[in-house]
Amino acid sequence: MDIFRSATIILFLLFGSETLLAQAMVASPDGRIVFAVQVNERDELRYSVTFDQEQVIRDSALGLRFRDQAGFDSGFAILEVSMGSRDEQWEQPWGERRLVRDHHKQMLLTLGDADGRRFALRIRVFNDGIGFRYEVPAQDGFETVNIVDELTEFHLPAESTAWWIAGNDYNRYELLYRTTGLADIETAHTPLTLRTPAGTHLSIHEAALVDYSAFTLVQRRDNIFKTRLRPWSDGIRVKTSAPFKTPWRTIQLSQQATGLLNSNLILNLNEPNALGDVDWVEPGKYIGIWWAMHLKTHTWGSGPNHGATTAETKRYIDFAAEHGFDGVLVEGWNIGWDGEWFYNGDLFSFTKPYPDFEIDAVAAYGREKGVRLVGHHETSGNPVNYAAQMQDAFDLYQSLGVRQVKTGYVADAGHIKRVDENGVAHYEWHDGQYMASEYLRSVKEAARRKISINTHEPIKDTGLRRTYPNWISREGARGQEFNAWGVPPNPPEHTAILPYTRMLSGPMDFTPGIFNLTFEGADSEQRVSTTLAKQLALYVTLYSPIQMVADLPENYAKHPGAFQFIVDVPTDWEQSIAVAGEVGDYVAFARLERGGKDWYLGATTDEQARKLEIPLGFLEPDVRYIAQIYRDGPGAHWRSNPYAITIEEQILRQGDTLALPLAAGGGAAIRFTPAAGQ
Ligand code: NOJ
Ligand code: CA
Repeated sequence: MDIFRSATIILFLLFGSETLLAQAMVASPDGRIVFAVQVNERDELRYSVTFDQEQVIRDSALGLRFRDQAGFDSGFAILEVSMGSRDEQWEQPWGERRLVRDHHKQMLLTLGDADGRRFALRIRVFNDGIGFRYEVPAQDGFETVNIVDELTEFHLPAESTAWWIAGNDYNRYELLYRTTGLADIETAHTPLTLRTPAGTHLSIHEAALVDYSAFTLVQRRDNIFKTRLRPWSDGIRVKTSAPFKTPWRTIQLSQQATGLLNSNLILNLNEPNALGDVDWVEPGKYIGIWWAMHLKTHTWGSGPNHGATTAETKRYIDFAAEHGFDGVLVEGWNIGWDGEWFYNGDLFSFTKPYPDFEIDAVAAYGREKGVRLVGHHETSGNPVNYAAQMQDAFDLYQSLGVRQVKTGYVADAGHIKRVDENGVAHYEWHDGQYMASEYLRSVKEAARRKISINTHEPIKDTGLRRTYPNWISREGARGQEFNAWGVPPNPPEHTAILPYTRMLSGPMDFTPGIFNLTFEGADSEQRVSTTLAKQLALYVTLYSPIQMVADLPENYAKHPGAFQFIVDVPTDWEQSIAVAGEVGDYVAFARLERGGKDWYLGATTDEQARKLEIPLGFLEPDVRYIAQIYRDGPGAHWRSNPYAITIEEQILRQGDTLALPLAAGGGAAIRFTPAAGQ
């Protein structure tokens, strides 16, 4: 208590203000968000957040606990408060927008206890949310640190509605989102998105997760969600040494649901590009020897239906060249897939092709046609086998002109095989500290060879693409593949929830563009639960700098009109604006092509048909645009009439409002091109 008093006196002297005696606070540049910290009567550090006077986080715990040292949990006083601010613009090498404004106020609190131990809490408050993290400076006794708990809580408004997936499911992040009150949540992954009874939208997540474990949220008491760091197999949650800092704990805040989509908070809390010139990172579209395996007409493994043959790959390369697609992904090219490949983690070779796949000839054929091979490394959850071959594997791809590799870590949650120096196997989580570093190992190793990485079965995205722009995309949610074999396949609302949840963390390789929606016949439950127009819209609503053109070439030939939109749509943007939407119901994005003048608009709805009225204020003033509109046709419905599509042109300008009818499970995609002579 003595320390606390003297600290408050220092604080009093520093600021000469009585309001700061009990708490320190910092507000966003526009003053609407206020983050307040206080040391309570039990000498515990607590915080709260208000947004437009609404208390969105009530009095909540902060702190860390260690195995070998007393915790940073009580007995600490605020020794020093230092305030700062920043207002800068930075540029993304690729992205949903080229220029990003980092405008925030910062408060750095130095905390100390009677034994002279120190840690800091750094808080940044932006107009679109907050981030805070713990920083532990080098000090005696902290040469080795085993974190056993993080105390950070989020005490949320009662009666909020949440969109969430469970934090401990075997299927990692590949789950259907649930829409419930808070009472139904035991554990949740982040981003966890909510709407409070007052109508405020918020999303809890983390930024810049490096050499640390991810957290899930656990409801401890009614409406109080506590961080639970994912442990190593020995129970320790994070193994580190001082100095260290935790990832940022983040809360995005907005009145409107679309405000979450227009937020740059996660990127702004990441470190700048560490790779220097990254001209070699290439956004674009790719096709692949892929969907046929998910439909089970071809196999990854060898045999009569082997997908990755020289002839089949050349056929795909021809198709890509004909339509201007940049790459051809080839899965099942390498030895190791035979049998139950899910369990083949020890068997995969990352350098030896199957005999019917002539890798040199195929790559050369692609180079002649201006199409690159997209590489594939499936580890089946065995990063040790992968790490042992990684240098050779990336060397091989580099020598073939490959610029992008899709990696895979198929294994149940908690079943990543780590073999220690004594040859003993341990089983780790995809989102624990061990894997956080393994994923980054592949990204860094690839960067040395000018290769970009698209991770499947990843750790959640926390914005590291800013620091490592070659971490170009990832999966980390239920993607299109679930429509081939998932039980149930993705319902129409899935892609009306993803933008407001998973996608707040970063790009997703969802793989849109399936045109044969009813591949098992119109009556089968196993199908794509969208209209054809909605498949086009997903290229705009689900952002990724690389987008797959996921269906088989022969299925595109049946719908040449609709296919034209996929040929035209870019994947790299000067600007992106969410122009309409409600979580779980619908979403509409307008995006301006990078290095061009064309705007694109994508809108999708859930199972409800609706008519959107979209003001075209994003268009350039005084320019007439030819709008090529691909929308649900008369009578379209995802279940009964999914292929009905209307493709039409309209002349539109900035002051116009576009009335856009969307069918149940439907969508619309539009390309706006300035009329000739403008
Ligand atoms: C799961 C990935 O998400 C999918 O795209 C891939 O085809 C399989 N693993 C095989 O690697
Ligand atoms: Ca809905």
